[in-house]
Amino acid sequence: MTRKEALDSVEANVENENLVKHMLATEAIMQALARRFGEGEDEWGLTGLLHDIDVELTGGDMNEHSKLGADLVMELGASETMAHAILSHNETHGIPRETQLDKALFCADPLTGLIIAAALVRPDKKLAGVEAKSVRKRFKEKSFAAGANREQIALCSEIGLELDEFIELGLGAMKGIADDLGL
Ligand SMILES: [Fe+2]
Repeated sequence: MTRKEALDSVEANVENENLVKHMLATEAIMQALARRFGEGEDEWGLTGLLHDIDVELTGGDMNEHSKLGADLVMELGASETMAHAILSHNETHGIPRETQLDKALFCADPLTGLIIAAALVRPDKKLAGVEAKSVRKRFKEKSFAAGANREQIALCSEIGLELDEFIELGLGAMKGIADDLGL
């Protein structure tokens, strides 16, 4: 599967632009994590890009979300490792996160929301001026971007990253695609 095929499939299955942006942001963070750990950048990036492809198709049914997604990505030619990461990122299924890829996707997913929110509260609503230390401060404010699960983000420890480094890496990755994110 090429990156273009993956993106075409995302765009064919997802109407909500913010959801597409969330997946692009997750892709960027996953690529940066893969580089950090010497893992496959394409595999990790595509897993991030595709991980919520079924959200609209499943109509928010958490019992179906990511099961359909895993099937869809396999049809697109994704590896079983990628499909497992996508399947296990929805905790509803109770599937243990086993590989580094599983764990990386799980903690990267909510970090995107925290960083996007940190940009949107700025007067210019741009990522460029967001500093890692301000994201770190927002991390501690529970009511800020409350949907961005802090415990889940903190599971970056399971892939061997301190929270500070994870935030810095995620922020840098998202700044790199700021235009695509409209931020
Ligand atoms: Fe997600």
